[in-house]
Amino acid sequence: LQTWVIPIVISYLLGSISFSYLLTKWLKGVDIRDYGSGNAGATNTSRVLGKGPAVVVFLLDALKGMAAVGLGYWLANGHNADVMMMVCGIAAIIGHNWPIFLGFRGGKGIATTVGVTLLIGFTAALIAGVCAILFILFTRYVSVGSLVFTTIVPVAMWILDFPAALVWLMLIVTVMAIWRHKQNLINLIKGKERKI
Ligand code: G3P
Repeated sequence: LQTWVIPIVISYLLGSISFSYLLTKWLKGVDIRDYGSGNAGATNTSRVLGKGPAVVVFLLDALKGMAAVGLGYWLANGHNADVMMMVCGIAAIIGHNWPIFLGFRGGKGIATTVGVTLLIGFTAALIAGVCAILFILFTRYVSVGSLVFTTIVPVAMWILDFPAALVWLMLIVTVMAIWRHKQNLINLIKGKERKI
């Protein structure tokens, strides 16, 4: 049990570090969650601080997902490494969405998911990423791209013959992402979603 608990807790804490919150606090002295969509993520950072800082936040949030996966690989020590990596990645995404340091009000986990999936299923992430970027360019809705990304990754992993355990774990990530995008989906239906 200990082999699982420690990496999961460390990954969760790592994911809880909210770079959008820290950067907006640092550069503007405000809480990002009081602005725009109220989300602590890269997209909302672009509304509060601009595109450059948003890219920085995206990369750092992706990087913490990668770090969690790396930690899982390292601590698994060859036993069930791929499952341990994915579980640590999920823990980081949960930390990002429900951060212990911010009263459990964080982001939607997409940048972190990108980082996690790039290490676990590079080709699947690449295919989903290209589709997501195309959707964002055509619709101007980042949320649509995010939903496209998380929906395509498990399908691509399944088609590419990834181990069933990884596909199922990825589906948990997809369900979490859709759940976190509830308000975006309502806004999209009402035609009120923010464009970029
Ligand atoms: O990844 C988050 C994005 O899909 C939506 O962000 O701030 O528009 O709710 P936001």
